[in-house]
Amino acid sequence: KMPLNILKMKKMKQEGHPITMITAYDYPTAQLAEEAGVDMLLIGDSLGNVVLGYDSTIPVTIDDIVYHSRAVARGAGSTFIVADLPFMTYHGSIDETLKSVRRLMQEGHAHAIKLEGGAEIADTVKAIVQAGVPVIAHIGLTPQSVHQIGGYRIQGKDEKDAQRLLDDALALEAAGAFGIVLELVTEEAATTISQKLSIPTIGIGAGRGCDGQVLVFHDAVKYTSSYREKRFVKTYADIGDTIRTALQEYVNEVRSGAFPAEQHVFSGDQEALGSLYG
Ligand code: KIV
Ligand code: NA
Repeated sequence: KMPLNILKMKKMKQEGHPITMITAYDYPTAQLAEEAGVDMLLIGDSLGNVVLGYDSTIPVTIDDIVYHSRAVARGAGSTFIVADLPFMTYHGSIDETLKSVRRLMQEGHAHAIKLEGGAEIADTVKAIVQAGVPVIAHIGLTPQSVHQIGGYRIQGKDEKDAQRLLDDALALEAAGAFGIVLELVTEEAATTISQKLSIPTIGIGAGRGCDGQVLVFHDAVKYTSSYREKRFVKTYADIGDTIRTALQEYVNEVRSGAFPAEQHVFSGDQEALGSLYG
């Protein structure tokens, strides 16, 4: 099966078919997401928060994204893969930016890259697109700028801010972006942007007027020890609780001697195994 491509995504917008995206950071998650029929996988720098235990996306490096992207690509060979350019990997010379992009595409096996910012990075978007790499932009709440923004604030709340977001979106579309992620944007502002652009918008906390939706995998399935409720997330499972309970049982059974049992042990007449792990 061929992965989705950027022309089909534009067509999906035109025909009103919502685009589905979720983050993935490893091989099993990528496999399961592909089996579920997700349109696009994102190796987001949210990796820093949900996998690496940092308290923001700022410490995430290009090596981190490449390492995880390679694993995702091995698990989802028929899915369109987008990798995030991390903090400060696209603000130096165009040469340096293209080196970062090369790593995500050639070493990380991504089909496209995502970067944060508005009109101020339009020239950067243009240079990457001219190099033959599809770019998805990301405006609204841009977590790499959290210390400049002053917190995880909802964007587009007044007319002036909504206009600024629309101007950014139009500049990014003109620069050649094939799509735009809108994060923590009022439904009204995001709907207007989605209507005025010909490229798809993918929302997270941006309401029902976007052309697609993206969620962070660990939020969508509660894969964490202490999930914090967030208005823009719907949790579809509680994997954290399932894992904790399973591991408690394992610990108890080893301690009590219930595991390993008769069916788990070898005698002299067993053959080689078809697989060892996984
Ligand atoms: O890093 C990430 O997961 C993202 C999504 C929230 C869009 O950028
Ligand atoms: Na990100």
